[in-house]
Amino acid sequence: MMQILIVESSPRGIESASRKLTDKLRERLEMQYPEARIIERDLVKDQLPHLDQLTLRAISTQDSVEAASLKEAAYLSDRLIDELMMSDLLVIACPMWNFGIPSSLKAWIDHIVRPGKTFNYAGAGVEGLAKGKKAILVLASGGVFSEGPWKSWDSAEPYLRQILGFIGIEDIQTVRAEGMNIPPLAIHAVPNGEKAVDALVI
Ligand SMILES: Cc1cc2nc3c(=O)[nH]c(=O)nc-3n(C[C@H](O)[C@H](O)[C@H](O)COP(=O)(O)O)c2cc1C
Repeated sequence: MMQILIVESSPRGIESASRKLTDKLRERLEMQYPEARIIERDLVKDQLPHLDQLTLRAISTQDSVEAASLKEAAYLSDRLIDELMMSDLLVIACPMWNFGIPSSLKAWIDHIVRPGKTFNYAGAGVEGLAKGKKAILVLASGGVFSEGPWKSWDSAEPYLRQILGFIGIEDIQTVRAEGMNIPPLAIHAVPNGEKAVDALVI
């Protein structure tokens, strides 16, 4: 059965542009794939801890984790990785914060990018282990970053593409609600994003 993982990271509830777009995308996915299992990982409702010393030890080893305390420390990371690895499509909803991603989303990334689980060291390089999955980035921002003078300030989309590529996810599409803080553009931001959702090749 197809599995879809939706990661939400905006705390703005019903005002959130990224959540509005993932709602629309979810409706489309439910219509298109009525049999699919959709999992929502809401990083606002269920906040993830930052990695501490024990967890780092537990998840940094490529050997199987034997000690009970390390097993427990790796449990959350294991669960998050299982959610991802069992999914065919990953949707990441990401508000732009200070030109990058919110730390809640970074914490999720820190839990799922893990040697021996989502990537392997391969000779001088690395091999992503999450190959064959598709991803959709749902980005919302106050300014405009898809083009124009602020494009190079965007650390969110390039970073997300890079880190997903690192674990083997190369098939990535983007939809945006941009210009949310620019009054003449704001009114069109979500409707334009919704049109982009309709245009996605899924
Ligand atoms: C803490 C914070 C930092 C922000 N930083 C930026 C920024 O660097 N650039 C920008 O264009 N918009 C910035 N914004 C505006 C948000 O990107 C915008 O409100 C967007 O709609 C957020 O997504 P959401 O509606 O899904 O929450 C920031 C908003 C907040 C709350």
